[in-house]
Amino acid sequence: MKKKTIQDIDVKGKKVIVRVDFNVPVKEGKITDDTRIRAALPTISYLKDKGAAIILMSHLGRPKGKVHEEMRLGVVAEKLEELVGQKVLYAKDCIGPEPQEMAEKMEPGDILLLENLRFHGEEEKNDREFAKKLASLADIYVNDAFGTAHRAHASTAGVAEFLPAVAGLLMQNEIGIMGKALENPERPFVAILGGAKVSDKIGVIQNLINKVDVLITGGGMANTFLAAQGKNMGKSLVERDKLDLARSLMEQAREKGVDFLLPGDLVVADAFAADAQHRVVSVDQIPADWMSMDIGPASAENFGKVIKSAGTVLWNGPMGVFEMIPFARGTEEIARAVTESQAVSIVGGGDSVAAIHKTGLADKITHISTGGGATLEFLEGKELPGVAALENK
Ligand code: 3PG
Repeated sequence: MKKKTIQDIDVKGKKVIVRVDFNVPVKEGKITDDTRIRAALPTISYLKDKGAAIILMSHLGRPKGKVHEEMRLGVVAEKLEELVGQKVLYAKDCIGPEPQEMAEKMEPGDILLLENLRFHGEEEKNDREFAKKLASLADIYVNDAFGTAHRAHASTAGVAEFLPAVAGLLMQNEIGIMGKALENPERPFVAILGGAKVSDKIGVIQNLINKVDVLITGGGMANTFLAAQGKNMGKSLVERDKLDLARSLMEQAREKGVDFLLPGDLVVADAFAADAQHRVVSVDQIPADWMSMDIGPASAENFGKVIKSAGTVLWNGPMGVFEMIPFARGTEEIARAVTESQAVSIVGGGDSVAAIHKTGLADKITHISTGGGATLEFLEGKELPGVAALENK
């Protein structure tokens, strides 16, 4: 179902309240990655150019209904000011007299950022009265917070009951590009899934088996599939209670004609540590006391060839223990292959996105998703509450 966007409505002279996902990493009072703030800029500048006054609202962290000084959005207001090159008004609460008064005085083009929504427990409870108070600040509601669209909260779902509700440009982009990949991809469609556990990605694998031509798995989750094939995985992380499931997923893939690719060689280590002894072995020769830490060079090369011949590539999750330098190579090789592929390329998940940035070729990627949990739920084929609440075209 196509959703209405800010391009389908007239915002001139209107006050527009925009749910953004400014849940950015903050260390010692400094934002360490401003990607999510930058991702909201197209919507902000579009609304400004069209003569709207813009009220931004977001959560930061999980304060669970209490004020936490270190989770105030002041640091985000400063960063935003720098990025948009204009004064950003900042209200020390998201409801009540202060934001009300500030919103009333706003002129077209003004930008106001409200305080962390989750300082109020009502936000996560999707409290109707709280949603109504947020709505009372504006004439139109825009949801541009794709990263939080899997949450049915007051600011992502409830508020849509009280105002015309449309998608922002980031939201449109995320659901448009990923939606096309799931519904009508350029083929061959190759998905690469990694990360520590199969259990985190069961729903994604199940959904993708019905869509892709090739499913590549790496990282810790590949260990469980390899163990399910009867390989002796030594001390590697294996989810023993998921072996039957792993076998059934591989069987489903076979029935659907999906090429299910697992690593044939691995980098194994004698301890889970960056300075552990390590070497490359075939998956048939893992020493009993050693553990898998990364895909091996032959697997990286084989996967790379498949990726380069794809029409659509979707990548989520690292191929190894990426945070330890000796075990980052497999993930980096995959990142390079994805950037070198001519395919429509979609990358999600913190480590995969970081690996793409490390190549310096992130601009070669068609779409880097700003979602974590939201991206996974979208790829599972679930309808996200933050999207469902918006008006259809
Ligand atoms: C995220 O970072 O994935 C989103 O901002 C959602 O945050 P949450 O998991 O705390 O709801």
